[in-house]
Amino acid sequence: MALGADISGVSSGSSAYYHGRVTDTAGEPIANCTLDVWSGDGDGFYDLQKGPDAPMALRARFHTDAGGNYRFWSIKPAFYPVPDDGPVGAMLRRMGRHPNRPGHMHTMLSAPGHERLITYLFVSDSPYLDSDAVFGVRNSLIVDFEAHPAGTAPDGRVMDKPFCTAHYDFRLVPSA
Ligand SMILES: [Fe+2]
Repeated sequence: MALGADISGVSSGSSAYYHGRVTDTAGEPIANCTLDVWSGDGDGFYDLQKGPDAPMALRARFHTDAGGNYRFWSIKPAFYPVPDDGPVGAMLRRMGRHPNRPGHMHTMLSAPGHERLITYLFVSDSPYLDSDAVFGVRNSLIVDFEAHPAGTAPDGRVMDKPFCTAHYDFRLVPSA
């Protein structure tokens, strides 16, 4: 999709503007880096969990611009429980652990000459940051979703409701 697109569709959750830069280990921008993003909605549900007729939402592919920059609109993801009606649930219960994952945006970055990077951005004020059911949280992946009142967003879009901004810079290592 075009940089700056809004992929939230009709999803619940407050609007969030994601932006940042992709560089190599020397800090040089990586242009045309493929960035795949996907997340659940403001209630913790992925589009695929809403039935076969649910419209695709909250997932897209972008490419960085000449300066390595990316930007898009989605929502601030909420925490959700992993399915716990099978062996995973039995294991979690035996371990005395809850099934919840803190709110996160999945990201996958690929660019020629660099290792593919599959990671997440975690919402800094989400519950369960210190007890993610699948142990994905790292301090370096926790992002502040800065809250803003209705008004003009960094890309000039005029928002009639409060929104947040999430800034994150990615760094890719050279492929072996
Ligand atoms: Fe997820």
